[in-house]
Amino acid sequence: MTTISEQDITVEKTQNSKLKDTDFNNLPFGKVFSDHMLISRYKEGSWSIPEVVPYQPITLDPSAKIFHYGQSVFEGMKAYKDSNNDIYLFRPLENCKRLNISSKRLAIPEIPESYFMEGLKKLLKVDQDWIPTTSGSALYIRPFVFASGNGFHASPANEYIFIIATAPSGAYFSGKVTVAIEEKYSRSANGGVGYAKAGGNYAGQFYPTQLAIDKGYNQVIWTDDTTHEYIEEAGAMNIFVRINDTLITAPTSDRILDGITRKSILEIAKKEGIDVNVRRISVKEIVEAAKNGSLKEMFGSGTAAVISPISGFGYKNKDYTLPELDDSYASKLKTLITDIQYNRSEDPFNWRAKI
Ligand code: PLP
Ligand code: COI
Repeated sequence: MTTISEQDITVEKTQNSKLKDTDFNNLPFGKVFSDHMLISRYKEGSWSIPEVVPYQPITLDPSAKIFHYGQSVFEGMKAYKDSNNDIYLFRPLENCKRLNISSKRLAIPEIPESYFMEGLKKLLKVDQDWIPTTSGSALYIRPFVFASGNGFHASPANEYIFIIATAPSGAYFSGKVTVAIEEKYSRSANGGVGYAKAGGNYAGQFYPTQLAIDKGYNQVIWTDDTTHEYIEEAGAMNIFVRINDTLITAPTSDRILDGITRKSILEIAKKEGIDVNVRRISVKEIVEAAKNGSLKEMFGSGTAAVISPISGFGYKNKDYTLPELDDSYASKLKTLITDIQYNRSEDPFNWRAKI
């Protein structure tokens, strides 16, 4: 069966809800987990009908291929509650499609669209009280697929697990972000897996990011792997630069994640009459613009980070500070996108999906 409806999904409710012990006024990012999760298992060539079960540990054989060969992909989404307690997702089909694009690249079987979409809706209904209403928070949703099948042979597993777990979450960054423009390490390469949300892409970032943190920065701006002359992404965010009044972002490629926030911001900015330019941005151009004052803003975009303004960057042992603007594109675009997400405004693009 490849098409299911919500009624096909069974629910096993927890006997030990953690809801009352959760402080919704002090939510960290991604550390407190809701009562339930969705699970489906891939065996003998097909996915089981997903089930909603209590949030719980999973048991794996030590030879499960996820541990050895890193076959794992994930997504990041959010559920938002409006002032009537209605629940919304933002462009959820895009996440479903991207999960399968990532899976294909990692030789993981794709999950049928209705398993993802109907499963997610059911899970959100069961755990609707976990969707926070405190300002700036949302229910962070983490769909993921990994190889549970066994064996040391370096080849794709024959069994996989798909889970959606959720976490009521506050802001990803507590304030403005400082970044180091990367001069040595690469996040991704031509022909590689940079465009996929593969777990290993993040593991590969941790060491160079820690080196940047040790020097006092919060994040790394990744540059192209061949020359390190062009900026591409910022940690788990796409990157935008404003030079004079033009908003610029790098074109997506097989090295860059096709961010849903990025492409939404591009559309919103165009509609607002902002001059938008999708093109390569050289580090040289940014440094020169910082020196002559035409570099007005830089910000990262992503589901977890929403829009995170960058206050300054480091490059070749020099630090550059960005100006504080009263009319920043970052704050204007953040208001516009979150107003759509939380149903505080019209949705001219039809991006909101009511649950
Ligand atoms: N780039 C990377 C590497 C990411 O991990 C993310 C986070 O999901 C993004 C960009 C932003 O993508 P999206 O806006 O779809 O969340
Ligand atoms: C997201 O923005 O949803 C992400 O996946 C970022 C995550 C790595 C924290």
